[in-house]
Amino acid sequence: MEVKFLLRCIECGNEYKAYKEVRYKCSCGGLLEVKHNLERLNGKKLKEAWEARWGIRNSVFSSGVWRYKELIADIPDDSIITKLEGNTRLYDSGPAGEYANLKKLKLKHEGENPTGSFKDRGMTSGISISKLLNAKTVACASTGNTSASMASYAAKAGYKSIIFIPSGKIAYGKLSQALAYGGKTLQIEGNFDDAMQLVQEVCSELNIYLLNSINPFRIEGQKAIGFEILQQLEWNVPDWFIIPGGNLGNNTALSKGLMELYSLGIINKIPRIAVIQARGANPLYEMWKNKTFFKPVKDPDTIATAIKIGNPVSWKKSIRGIEWTDGVVEEVTEQEIMDAKAKVDASGIGAEPASCCVVAGAKKLVEAGTISSDSSAVGILTGNMLKDPDATVNYHLGNLKQRGIDGKFKNAPENIKSDIESVKKAVKDII
Ligand code: F0G
Repeated sequence: MEVKFLLRCIECGNEYKAYKEVRYKCSCGGLLEVKHNLERLNGKKLKEAWEARWGIRNSVFSSGVWRYKELIADIPDDSIITKLEGNTRLYDSGPAGEYANLKKLKLKHEGENPTGSFKDRGMTSGISISKLLNAKTVACASTGNTSASMASYAAKAGYKSIIFIPSGKIAYGKLSQALAYGGKTLQIEGNFDDAMQLVQEVCSELNIYLLNSINPFRIEGQKAIGFEILQQLEWNVPDWFIIPGGNLGNNTALSKGLMELYSLGIINKIPRIAVIQARGANPLYEMWKNKTFFKPVKDPDTIATAIKIGNPVSWKKSIRGIEWTDGVVEEVTEQEIMDAKAKVDASGIGAEPASCCVVAGAKKLVEAGTISSDSSAVGILTGNMLKDPDATVNYHLGNLKQRGIDGKFKNAPENIKSDIESVKKAVKDII
């Protein structure tokens, strides 16, 4: 097979043939990234091909990832394992944008992917490559979404999957998905960072294919979020992309994809990227703000369970992407996350707490004057509203005081007697 891409070390530049061996890191220890042979591609023709594929039914090109195949992984169609992921909606932000004082904010809802998060985009590319490498067992550490996604794609491919999760610390719905899709689920003592460390050791010792975003092919699929947004915007480039940051694979993917589009002349300006972290799990923010060395956060804690990560594996790639795009990093408090979530939800859009960091961060950056309120921006809602329902319900019941969160925009249920007079009394203010 003609090899159309290589793996390249982001530290020393060493290159590896992607099909020859399973590799996630360079022999120097540096992170690897996929290097496409961009010289063989013509940006104008590529864009025309992507436009022609929009709306195609029943083909790998119906996937919102494989539509952009040339910049994902140019591999034979019969090795692609897809659930036709992507093709998610781009919403006007409505009241959520007004809350952030950013009226031209649009929200891309990646929670509308097949298993409920953006992870499906990276999973289709990662697992398809695993097929080429003849791997039959895959593994990941997860705060929830990755495990659900991997278990589902592994089941579809007929592979075994092994999931490492922090004991008792992932959202129940996500645990239910992992179990139901048939993933061998190992609950370990410790947090996500411990699970991440362990899964890397296990995969190298037992020859299991690792599907966390340290795997460079996961990143390739996730780039398609940016491609699809731009295509939905008729290739009109927004001023800003705003994205939550946990293990920092997704913002890495976004910046890499944008740089590739730019170097192919498909876009003529590079949007700035704002990465938003929760204050209790903010190592990238601390590093960026204080212009200091990277220091992991020891006991990360946040209500946004998806991004409760203190030692993100992709921080070097992430910071490079922020530099490329003249980006910024912001942190948001628990109260800010849940208030923003109330606004995203009440806009009729809805997303999980980690995703709503985007609107909380946008508000803060507009207030600080970093983002001007008439800028165009796209926030990426990474996960579904049905994740972390306890956080949502407890916010609306005013039950998050122990976390220092007040139900400022709460919509609590009311208990009433079962008679028409009680109903009339309860609804008199809204009819
Ligand atoms: N949003 C959601 C909904 C997530 O699930 C994650 C990561 C992120 C944001 C952060 O993305 O790690 O690329 O910076 N969730 C992982 C998981 C860690 O296991 O599902 P990132």
